[in-house]
Amino acid sequence: MSPFQISHPDLIIESPGRINLIGEHIDYNGGQVLPAAINLKIRFFFERTDSDVAKIYSKDLDQSFEIALNNLQNSKTEWHNFFLGVIHFILKIAPNSIKGFNCIVESNLPFGAGVSSSAALECGIAKGLDLLFDIGLKDSEIITLSRDAEHDFVGTKCGIMDQFAVVRGKKNFLIQLNCADLSYKYVPADFSPYTILLLNTNVAHNLASSEYNLRRQACEKGLRIINEKYPEYRFLAHVPLKVLEKLKSQFPENLYKRLTYVVEENLRTIAAGEVLEKNDLNSFGKLLFESHKGLSKKYEVSCAELDFLVQYAASYEGVIGARMMGGGFGGCTINLVHGNKVDKYIKDISEAYKTAFGLSLTPHKVSIDQGVHRMIL
Ligand code: GLA
Repeated sequence: MSPFQISHPDLIIESPGRINLIGEHIDYNGGQVLPAAINLKIRFFFERTDSDVAKIYSKDLDQSFEIALNNLQNSKTEWHNFFLGVIHFILKIAPNSIKGFNCIVESNLPFGAGVSSSAALECGIAKGLDLLFDIGLKDSEIITLSRDAEHDFVGTKCGIMDQFAVVRGKKNFLIQLNCADLSYKYVPADFSPYTILLLNTNVAHNLASSEYNLRRQACEKGLRIINEKYPEYRFLAHVPLKVLEKLKSQFPENLYKRLTYVVEENLRTIAAGEVLEKNDLNSFGKLLFESHKGLSKKYEVSCAELDFLVQYAASYEGVIGARMMGGGFGGCTINLVHGNKVDKYIKDISEAYKTAFGLSLTPHKVSIDQGVHRMIL
């Protein structure tokens, strides 16, 4: 039960999760990604108060906490840090801009499932406080301060893709984002007759954050080695495969695998954009399968449950592409499934998954929706 009620909210914010069609672990390497905001969301009810504390209640967790706005410290409870981090970074841009408020949070977006509940939280809080206190933040500031909150308060050294998609998402469009300079364009997300289906493994291996940071460090180390001979490459994703091959003896075996994955995945994402333009969905789907192979074998961020689902998808008629999505080590696969086959596919793959792992799958047929916004009452 909430220790407080909000019967007349001053503001309601909806903040979506995101999918990423292809271009995984590429954002922090300066390459191309293809994300979109979806119709699974977090909703925030905000109310201004005449105090200097913020009171927050999460309906899903049935937990609440209070923040003294003049004393912002990291918390041991992870979800508190989303609020603390965002408030901290807003106050850095706009000192004294945030006064007391109450906030109730509810969600139909699964947490820890690779659909970016973290960025949805961060950007939803930032957008909400911006409007509630008339701060005047730019969208680009909301994106970067939310990313900074994730780095410094939550502890994952994430890239920019998730926050970008959550803020700039547009109904029925994918975002073709160049993470080297944050230039982007919207491309129509027309996959008909195929449905975008997420299958949540309902596992979240706790390696996710630590291994994520290790992959990022490995990429940075690889680029430093490359730059000794080739200082012209600012981003790993831009290094030609030929250059990597030439330098192969300089890298430990695992590092070489990680680096080739990044360069190949970036090329696949560029190719995916091209085939999508020609509406060649079969080729697009094949690139998704290849992406998974790279993530599993070279980048090694998959797990048995995800590999099982993608392997099953590859041999199922009517599924043209599938792969793990997001950071990895659990969470969801993304699948492109013919509309006529999707219900039968969900039934069959759920049974097979239950038999193999004793776990239930949670399916989500998702549609592509707008980014974080104020709900008009
Ligand atoms: C997480 C991070 C993103 C991105 C993906 C992998 O979702 O938050 O920045 O790196 O993993 O593509």
